[in-house]
Amino acid sequence: MTGPEEDTRRLAGKIYREAVEARRIVAKHARKTPLDHSSTFSRMSGGHIYLKYENLQKTGSFKIRGALYKVYKVRSKARGVVAASAGNHAQGVAYAASSLGLPSIIVMPETASISKVEATRGYGAQVVLHGRIYDEAEQKALEIAGEKGYAFIHPFDDPDVIAGQGTLALEILEDLRDIDIIVVPVGGGGLISGIAAVFKELSPSTKIVGVEPENAPKFAESLKAGKPVTVEVKPTIADGLATKKPGKLTFQIVSGLVDEVVTVSEDELAHAIYLLLERGKVLAEGAGAAALAAVLSGKVDVKDRKVVALVSGGNIDLTAIYRLLIRGLAGAGRIAAIQGHVPDLPGTLARIAGIIASHRGNIVEVIHDRADMDAPAWHTTLKIIFEAPSLETVKAILRELEKQGYSFQLL
Ligand SMILES: Cc1ncc(COP(=O)(O)O)c(C=O)c1O
Repeated sequence: MTGPEEDTRRLAGKIYREAVEARRIVAKHARKTPLDHSSTFSRMSGGHIYLKYENLQKTGSFKIRGALYKVYKVRSKARGVVAASAGNHAQGVAYAASSLGLPSIIVMPETASISKVEATRGYGAQVVLHGRIYDEAEQKALEIAGEKGYAFIHPFDDPDVIAGQGTLALEILEDLRDIDIIVVPVGGGGLISGIAAVFKELSPSTKIVGVEPENAPKFAESLKAGKPVTVEVKPTIADGLATKKPGKLTFQIVSGLVDEVVTVSEDELAHAIYLLLERGKVLAEGAGAAALAAVLSGKVDVKDRKVVALVSGGNIDLTAIYRLLIRGLAGAGRIAAIQGHVPDLPGTLARIAGIIASHRGNIVEVIHDRADMDAPAWHTTLKIIFEAPSLETVKAILRELEKQGYSFQLL
C-alpha cells in the first residue's frame, strides 16, 4: 500500500473507533431512526431498497449526530460553541449544546428563512444574523469564537463531526447486513466520510455511492481534477447540498474510500420528494430525497441488489412543498394545464368541458381570454387547468379534443 492510501486507511480506522465512542453520546440525546424495506421503491427500481429515515431524527436531520459528538469533545475546554449555518447544522448545534449544557451562538446569513431562525432559537441558541452569504456568516462566527473563547464547530471538515455522522452507519449495520450498496447525499462530505469510515471497517464489500445535485457538483468535479476544486453553485432544491468546495479532510476520505459520486437533476430531486410523500407518506427535503432520486433515476445500478438509501433530512418550507407538489403532480399527469385557440361561439366551452369530464378530468380553473391579439379572427384563447387520473388520460383528452377540431397544447 502506498503512502497516501495508508494515511487515509489509518484516518478512517481512527474515525471508526471515534464513531463507536460517539454512539454512546448520540444514543443518549438523539433517536435511533427506523430502517425499513420499501416494497414500492423496490418495485419501481428493480432493487431491494431500504430507506433510513433521518428525517425523523430530532431537529429533522442527521446533523445533530456530528454536533453532539463535537460539543461533547470540546465541552470541558470551551466556554460555549459557535457555528455558522442557514440550515440543519444550525439546529443540530443549537440542540446539541442545550442537551450538553453549553451556551451556543449560531450566525445565520441575513437571508435565512424566518422558520429556520425561529427553530434555531427554539433549540436554545442565540442567533446572530450577519452577511448575505455563508462565507460572511462563517467569518463572523470565527471572530465570535476568538472574542468569547467559544469553540467553532465546522459543518463537515472536522474528524469529530465526521465520527458523529458515522454513528448512522453503525445503526444501519445493527439492523441489516450484507448490504450491496449504500447511497448517501453529499454536501461538504462529512456525512459520507463518516459512513465510509464505518463501512470500510465493518462491511468492506459494500459499495459506497455519493449523490450531488447537478447544480452543485463539487465532489464529482474535484474527483475528476484529483484535488478539491471550487465549482459555481446554481440554485437547487437540495439546498443542504449546495456547497462550493469539498473539505480538505472530506476530500481525502471520499477520494480514498467512496466508490462513485453521481449527480441528479432538479426534476429528479423534485420527483423523488413527490414520490416519497405520495407513496411513502414521508416528508423529505431536497437533500433528503437525493439518494432515492439517484436510485429511481437509474444513476445507480440497483437491479437485484440490496440497497440502503439515506433520507437524511425533512426540513422543508411549506411553501416549497406546495410548489414541488404541483410540479410533481404535473410530471405524473395528475394535474395538467392545456392552452389553445378556439372558435368564439356559444357552446364551445361546454363541449370542451364535456370532453374533459368524459375522461374523468376535473376542471380546476378556466381562463378565457377574448382580448388575446395572438388569437386568429373570431377565436379566443382558452387555458384550462384540470386534475386527471394519469398522463395517459391527459393525452387521450388532447387526442379527443383534436378529433373534435380543437387544437390544444400541454403547457
Ligand atoms: C438534509 C441533509 N442531507 C445531507 C447533507 C450533506 O451533509 P454533508 O455536508 O456532511 O455532506 C446535509 C448538509 O447540510 C443536509 O442538511
